[in-house]
Amino acid sequence: MQTVLEYLKVHQERFLEEFCDYLRFPSISAQASHQKDLKACATWLRDHCRSIGLKAKLHSTPGNPILVAQTPRQRNSRKPHFLVYGHYDVQPPDPLNLWKTPPFEPRIANGNIYARGTSDNKGQNFAHIKAVEAYLKTGTELPCDLTFVIEGEEEVGSEGLAPFLKANKKDFACQGVVISDSGMPSSRHPALTYALRGVVALDVILEGPNADLHSGIFGGCVENPAMALCQLLGSLRDKKGRITIPGFYDEVESLTKLERKSFARLPGTEARFKKLLGVRELYGEKGFTHHEQRAARPSFEINGLTSGYQGEGSKTIVPSRASAKITMRLVPSQDPAVIMKRVRKHLTSICPRSVKMTLVEGHAGEPYIMDPTSDLAQAGLRSLKASFGHEPVILREGGSIPIVNDFKKILGAESLLLGLALPDDNLHSPNEKFSLDHFAKGMHMSAVLWQELASQ
Ligand code: BES
Ligand code: MN
Repeated sequence: MQTVLEYLKVHQERFLEEFCDYLRFPSISAQASHQKDLKACATWLRDHCRSIGLKAKLHSTPGNPILVAQTPRQRNSRKPHFLVYGHYDVQPPDPLNLWKTPPFEPRIANGNIYARGTSDNKGQNFAHIKAVEAYLKTGTELPCDLTFVIEGEEEVGSEGLAPFLKANKKDFACQGVVISDSGMPSSRHPALTYALRGVVALDVILEGPNADLHSGIFGGCVENPAMALCQLLGSLRDKKGRITIPGFYDEVESLTKLERKSFARLPGTEARFKKLLGVRELYGEKGFTHHEQRAARPSFEINGLTSGYQGEGSKTIVPSRASAKITMRLVPSQDPAVIMKRVRKHLTSICPRSVKMTLVEGHAGEPYIMDPTSDLAQAGLRSLKASFGHEPVILREGGSIPIVNDFKKILGAESLLLGLALPDDNLHSPNEKFSLDHFAKGMHMSAVLWQELASQ
């Protein structure tokens, strides 16, 4: 083990250069124009995995390729088998003008590395790859067989991965899935995430008059789709910050006393959140703390709102259409399909006859929850403590990793979520970063984890 840790220390500089190469691919899964970049990034990753001694292959899907890379293993190996999941796709970097330096030209400054995808998720999965390299290159026997599954569609709902897992169930039979694709409240609070929210996406389109109209000639006698959309969406939450869609909360599990206690102990006070986010007040469902609201309660968000003229100056029109991009975050035991049905029914029932409404359903991912007292979780907690040097916390997260509940349903495997990102790492925002210290500690954690998992 000492040689492994020594190897990680000695090669840090080279690791950083390789990490920069990985970051230079604009692997933006939301934009079709970047398909080639995703393919190039996956190919680079495959070749990199091969160069460190893994057996690596790309599998094509209707979308972006999935990388599968295995540690060398003996025939009839009796070692425990774990999957390491991650994603090489990234969110769009927009708005570009808010980046201090270009998003795909990695920059190192004050102990951080800046670029789109640094923490979400290239840096986090690369830390695991480097830890395994240290075992392979020093000839240290790995106590577990490992299979990396690194996909290119996480940020758009992971639609290609579940069918691939189903079709290759045997190859992926495992004792658990290790995932570093979430965060921790601070460097002094390394965290095991034992629950994630699910997500469903929906576009709402309202069409009114057959063209943009002169608002002086027609305004007042015909529906304005932008106003109709605002009223429609505005009616979806009440004064208490609750979503008014009938049945929206029906399956939501209430928090146990113990969970509320552990939420209350988390660092990141309301005041800190206000400062971090630059707001005078936080906003959320009454009766729940900010941590509970963002991690253990469902939410309804408008992600984008489009209608009419957006250019310079003014233009007096009644727009012919208006649309909104919506996502909802779901908690255990809400079912994305059931929720979508209720949303559709409600929106249809309240839509005025003056516009035509079209609802386009997008991707969906289920919520996830696991037992933080399980052996798997305990092994994770021990390796967090060994690498970060602080007592870890357990927490629920508000973000989603759509495939996680599928790992459970398809493979019967629980996921161990050991996130390395910090709250101010700007995931999905301009100037995304990853702490170099967390990169190093993440490799250390991964190296220790295989020992802990094998001896549990
Ligand atoms: N890494 C995040 C998920 C995450 C972030 C979990 C922080 C916990 C804490 C992941 O890459 C992500 O952003 N997922 C998307 C999925 C969606 C587009 C289907 C998300 O949550 O928005
Ligand atoms: Mn993400």
